[in-house]
Amino acid sequence: MRPARNQSSTSPGLHVAPQAGSLALARRRACLSLLAGTTLLPGVAGAQERFSLFVGSPQFTVDRMVKMAQLRDDDVVVDLGSGDGRIVLSALKANPKVRGWGVDINPALVAEATENARAQGLADRARFYHRNVFDADISEATVITMWLFPELMRLLRPKLLAEARPGTRLVSNGFEMPGWTPDFTDTEGGRVLVWVVPAKVEGYWNWDLPVTGSPQGYEALLEQLFQLAEGICRVGDRRGVFTDMKLRGEDLSFAMEITLDKVGLTRQEFSGKVRGDRIEGSVKVVHRDDPDYKTVTYPWRAERARTTAYFRPTGLAK
Ligand SMILES: C[S@@+](CC[C@H](N)C(=O)[O-])C[C@H]1O[C@@H](n2cnc3c(N)ncnc32)[C@H](O)[C@@H]1O
Repeated sequence: MRPARNQSSTSPGLHVAPQAGSLALARRRACLSLLAGTTLLPGVAGAQERFSLFVGSPQFTVDRMVKMAQLRDDDVVVDLGSGDGRIVLSALKANPKVRGWGVDINPALVAEATENARAQGLADRARFYHRNVFDADISEATVITMWLFPELMRLLRPKLLAEARPGTRLVSNGFEMPGWTPDFTDTEGGRVLVWVVPAKVEGYWNWDLPVTGSPQGYEALLEQLFQLAEGICRVGDRRGVFTDMKLRGEDLSFAMEITLDKVGLTRQEFSGKVRGDRIEGSVKVVHRDDPDYKTVTYPWRAERARTTAYFRPTGLAK
């Protein structure tokens, strides 16, 4: 279990968040806090980023969050701002094989969550740490849950993208991740949003395909905004645009229509898994100018490249 990248780097821990007398009151105070751009808590260290107060997610929302996480046996569920531990503990009850941990800036809540884990017989699979969310080592997480203010989510966004592994499900109670389109949204248990952390595909990628009879170089350029990706490609002296591009975790797919010497118009449908600097999968090539729409499937192996021929002059057709 790896709760923190630096065990000595802890939150200020100088305060105890008030336990909500009533949900409505707590929500109101929380909203006021957000509007004020600061916390209502007295005595909070100045170094601490703005943060959300403790209000436990309603159990029906927790249940939806757990359901939408689509737990697998080898999952590690991490709640950022874990409060009394209810999300992690509910996930562990839903699947007796997963393990999980939470971090919270409030040590009293960490103690409460730890006691809840013990009382519910889950102490062997659950841990809670007194930790600022920004200091948590989330690299082993496969499911990350959050109920934090959008402002805090915005501050966490680069960390999640840089440190969470592709395929990790980010599950939020209600709040958006500013600028990221959710992969799934559910309104049955309140509002639950899920994003699947995408592989990093931005950059240059090269590969060869023997569509014309002998291997020919493809030089592609991909752009990416979270799970939204776009791309263009050069094959010989032709350039094409990728369409229907989908990126979910490591799974990437797209299509391209391009005319190639000798074979004419083709539609090429790529799908593969992104593993670091490689993509492996297959491509289905439909020969549109062939009377029978001849279709051939090839293995597809792309490699990340430092340079690209995409921009090289092609000149004017003679
Ligand atoms: C709205 S509560 C959610 C509690 C729990 N996740 C749930 O949904 O029931 C937000 C929690 O995040 C904690 N928190 C706020 N800012 C934090 C930070 N920077 N680091 C760690 N925990 C934080 C608060 O103490 C509080 O327990």
